[in-house]
Amino acid sequence: MKLIHFDVINSTNTFLKDNYHNYQHLTFVSADSQTKGKGREAKKWLSEKGKNLLFSVLIKNEKLIEKYKTLSIVCGYSVLEVLMDYGLSNISIKWPNDVYVDDKKICGILLEAVSKQEIECLIVGIGINVNQKNFEEEYAITPTSIRNQLGKCIQLDKFKIDIYSNLISNFKLIEEDYDFYSQLRKYDYLKGREVFALVSNEKKLVKVLGINSDYSLSVITEGKKIDLETGQISFSL
Ligand code: BTN
Repeated sequence: MKLIHFDVINSTNTFLKDNYHNYQHLTFVSADSQTKGKGREAKKWLSEKGKNLLFSVLIKNEKLIEKYKTLSIVCGYSVLEVLMDYGLSNISIKWPNDVYVDDKKICGILLEAVSKQEIECLIVGIGINVNQKNFEEEYAITPTSIRNQLGKCIQLDKFKIDIYSNLISNFKLIEEDYDFYSQLRKYDYLKGREVFALVSNEKKLVKVLGINSDYSLSVITEGKKIDLETGQISFSL
């Protein structure tokens, strides 16, 4: 494990994408602020300088690359576990890997693959709102932070180590084929909800049945049950 920290960088994901060949498996890159923080679906990820946890982790282990669907959701679950230890309640995972508190988003995850002939590595970028109080931009989904949920600031450096440690323990468990499903399914935010999903390029109203054991999402649309894979869909609630 190697830890790198920047005061300012374009994006911790971009840094690792550009430099992955120089770094070992489980290199963690964090930053106080990002000038081009990236979210999923080409959205920006905004964060006040020094208030939140912004980091990416480089994955070069073959088994973890192979099990990328598990890796993706287990990253969200690992954040959820630490947030619980910090005393937050009503936390859930919005498939594929966002972490919500009540109906507000506290953590977003962007998983990127670097491929040539085959996948060389994965980069998991994680943004967790920690001590930021006000979110002034317009957000499609209301954001929250640990501070807003607990009514007090927490120590960012300690929180960072707690998150890194839990990710590393859970990555080991993935390598040992541990089954996270029975725990994780208890925190399924979308289960039972009706949402709009982009299914094969068409926006459709779907009823979510829940996360499957292979971490696809089971939904009913137009009377038919289908399983959605990450990347096929985008939600608007
Ligand atoms: C999303 O929910 O849209 C994903 C957000 C991911 C944000 C993190 S912050 C650290 C890392 N660097 C980036 O540019 N993005 C990810």
